[in-house]
Amino acid sequence: MYRRSFLTLLGGGALAWPRTLEALARHFDSGGAPDDELFWAEVRTGFLIAPDRIYLNNGTLGPSPRVAVDAVAEHTRRVAATFPPGVNWEDLKRSVAGLAGGDPDGFVFPRNTTEAMSFVANGMDVGPGDEVVTTDHEHIGGKEPWRLATTRRHAKYTVVSLPVPAPSPEALLETVWSGVSPATTVVMVSQMTFTTGTIMPVAELAARCRERGITLAVDGAHPPGMMRLDIGALGGDFYASSPHKWMLAPQGNGMLWMAADWRERLWPTLASGGWDDLSLGAQRFNHLGTFDESRMAGLIASAEFLQLLGMDRVEARVRHLRGILEKGLRSIPGLTVVTPTDESLKCGMVSFRIDGVDSLDLQVHLARTANVRTRVISEYDYGFMRLSTHIYNRPAELERVLELLSDAARNGVPSRGSDA
Ligand SMILES: Cc1ncc(COP(=O)(O)O)c(C=O)c1O
Repeated sequence: MYRRSFLTLLGGGALAWPRTLEALARHFDSGGAPDDELFWAEVRTGFLIAPDRIYLNNGTLGPSPRVAVDAVAEHTRRVAATFPPGVNWEDLKRSVAGLAGGDPDGFVFPRNTTEAMSFVANGMDVGPGDEVVTTDHEHIGGKEPWRLATTRRHAKYTVVSLPVPAPSPEALLETVWSGVSPATTVVMVSQMTFTTGTIMPVAELAARCRERGITLAVDGAHPPGMMRLDIGALGGDFYASSPHKWMLAPQGNGMLWMAADWRERLWPTLASGGWDDLSLGAQRFNHLGTFDESRMAGLIASAEFLQLLGMDRVEARVRHLRGILEKGLRSIPGLTVVTPTDESLKCGMVSFRIDGVDSLDLQVHLARTANVRTRVISEYDYGFMRLSTHIYNRPAELERVLELLSDAARNGVPSRGSDA
């Protein structure tokens, strides 16, 4: 199914690397245990990442594999040629549903999580007397749409403080629930927080919200492409995501999945022909005027790339690499890991701080010394450094970063303004 969908969108055009998806499938046919370095070294050759680049910021943007870059280029050429093939919506929806779950009819393809969440917050009738509950670990892309909607329409906006590090799923659930009152109509949380990589108990929260008639909007920017997942089975009303992160799609690929009963009820934020044709369901929200179809060709290719590897293999490798990193981090005196210890509460991201070391200084130091890309969580003044691991990372890179961090904890780092 995926092979067909990919070739349909490309119009059957040949790819530069590898020449066909059959060859790619043969590549990935066997092996792939989490520590099978030969296998994963081969996978790394499927990316364009510079050999000396230590890229540990997939949480912001995932590097696309060559097949996705080629798919974008090929599609762009075809448009210029000019045989715009149009988007095959069914194939596109099936390919993302195959990777992340959710029934294909529920998918909408905005440009990112921010836009997806804006469609939700602007499309609901939240008004005076309503309350939206969220946490102090939400990204601006997930929460600002709700701050806008509640400010404009005079609704209450309530923020609860999550425990760091989170001791258990139960503690996270009860903390979010402590913010809920009789006025609460919406709860918005991340499935995985961008701050500490903590997995929130979304399914349990969804069950409670459903009992109380509260809408649950999930910011799912991170899990798709990182973990095995069924976003439909989680039970939330909305799931907003950014396939240009862990799904490794080209920049500007967002997705929104909505539960069946919202597909006729939500107001569109952007109106074009068909916005009021309720028989179209969620497809009404894909009528966005002219847009960049090439990014979708890239999305299908990257989804197929991950499918060929298999999400079981991908998640196991991601966890293995994060485990190497985390074990090393926890052994460094003066370094405090803020990601939970419980394996069920984390996957591919780990955050920490080092006593007496400014994380922004550390970020610049790592970049200058070893071409490492990290993310500093300055939001809410947390000051954490976050590292993300995906399938293209290599244990040797992680060992190098651990050496540098160990040295930083012992000796400090130059302040970022200095030339050192
Ligand atoms: C949890 C979370 N939500 C939303 C976003 C915003 O994503 P985008 O810029 O793709 O809209 C991010 C980006 O890092 C994020 O980590």
